[in-house]
Amino acid sequence: MSQVGEPIFRLATRGDLDALVRLEEAFPEEDRFNRRTWRRLLAGNTIAHVAEYNGTLAGAAVLLLRYGSRIARLYTLSVCPEMRGKGLASQLMLAGENSAKEKGCDRMRLEARESNHTAILLYERSGYRVIARVADYYPNGETAVRMEKPLGMSLGEKR
Ligand SMILES: CC(C)(COP(=O)(O)OP(=O)(O)OC[C@H]1O[C@@H](n2cnc3c(N)ncnc32)[C@H](O)[C@@H]1OP(=O)(O)O)[C@@H](O)C(=O)NCCC(=O)NCCS
Repeated sequence: MSQVGEPIFRLATRGDLDALVRLEEAFPEEDRFNRRTWRRLLAGNTIAHVAEYNGTLAGAAVLLLRYGSRIARLYTLSVCPEMRGKGLASQLMLAGENSAKEKGCDRMRLEARESNHTAILLYERSGYRVIARVADYYPNGETAVRMEKPLGMSLGEKR
């Protein structure tokens, strides 16, 4: 458990299931994962990191890996509203990138709603560049911005 005022970053476990479901309660329903999906993600070919603050789960990042592919995909990233703007998402991304690199991946890819300027800024600041725009990607018809970052560079280095 983390000490007061000091977030810790660790791999998610099945014991985090309830807290992961709660973390997304503030999101619009179409952007949430249900318990079953979270359970599947934690058991699958994924890398899931969480941020814990004062013993409470404050953020999570899940990467999907595919056998035979060197591209890791950021599947979900979220930080609870009261802990935003403190660098937790950047740290979670970094933890995921380092783990993906350790598993032999050389690129990380992600999609974000083109209206999600906060997330896009975060990804740009973390070294991601837009490689495509995918029309009608989300259930409401919104376009996705597809971004990618090479993981071959030194860990944590920005372009
Ligand atoms: C996007 C999200 C994960 C960012 O989490 P966070 O912990 O607040 O992000 P960080 O503190 O690590 O911020 C990193 C960078 O992101 C950008 N950023 C973060 N919050 C921002 C805001 N409110 N406005 C503008 N830029 C912002 C900044 O560039 C920031 O770097 P800086 O602090 O050096 O200026 C969080 O807002 C969230 O959970 N949103 C809802 C879920 C979501 O949209 N997930 C992404 C789906 S693609």
